[in-house]
Amino acid sequence: MEHLAHGERSLFRELEDALDPERVAPLLRGRFGSPYRFCEVCESTQLLFSEHDPEGAVVVADEQTAGRGRRGRHWKAPPARALLFSVLLRPPRLDLAPQLSLVGGLAVTLVVESALAQPVQLKWPNDVLVGGQKVAGVLAEGRVGAIVLGVGLNVNQGPGELPLDARTPATSLRLVAGREHDRRELLVALLAELELAYERWLDGGLAAMHGELAARDFLAGRVVTMGDIRGVAAGIAPDGRLLVECDGETLAVTSGEVELVEHRP
Ligand code: BTN
Repeated sequence: MEHLAHGERSLFRELEDALDPERVAPLLRGRFGSPYRFCEVCESTQLLFSEHDPEGAVVVADEQTAGRGRRGRHWKAPPARALLFSVLLRPPRLDLAPQLSLVGGLAVTLVVESALAQPVQLKWPNDVLVGGQKVAGVLAEGRVGAIVLGVGLNVNQGPGELPLDARTPATSLRLVAGREHDRRELLVALLAELELAYERWLDGGLAAMHGELAARDFLAGRVVTMGDIRGVAAGIAPDGRLLVECDGETLAVTSGEVELVEHRP
């Protein structure tokens, strides 16, 4: 690329990074990404499936005008800097969406670990953290009679391009590694890892990945509150709930009930 002028180099870089179906679909080997749809701008990739879409259908966007986060929050990212996509899943039971958020979170964690070659943690139920800062989030929502699993991964955002209002401080792969990453390569790896994790979950439930989850559990040993009750996070239950030790008792709680008391890396 050295012989190219600056403008040509950035055009080359954009093409290299582009996520349109012509460039991505030939690289996909599994069921996830079939069909593959891409929109430059949309409201939210979570909203673009129909009841006729098969399991494994994927929607990717370069930009979202109303990106959805957990608990009604917004997910913001500048155009073409992050990975923003959703996968349609048709598990045997729709009430298992919270487990799928962990399955998705683990898959994203594994891909980020290999991209950065450093440990990455999963903050129950859905945040992917590097050095205590959030690099990705996963959202599992029941829609069109299926589960839509959304992933937002901060890839090439620079300083000043990450939300400052985030409850957990945000980072990107670029800020951690000091270099840009190829979004297309990451997307292909993520879809393969998500499919593998989902198949493992279908075969053996969360128990099949309990060791990997436990090894990356950010909350373990930290103080959390549930309303007026304060306890210490003590791992993830086989059904995906968070275990909290409280006055000598171990409680299993669902997301929405728990707040982390102090966010330390
Ligand atoms: C969270 O951490 O709160 C979950 C964030 C999930 C964001 C992704 S971006 C792609 C997909 N489309 C959305 O509107 N949200 C998810």
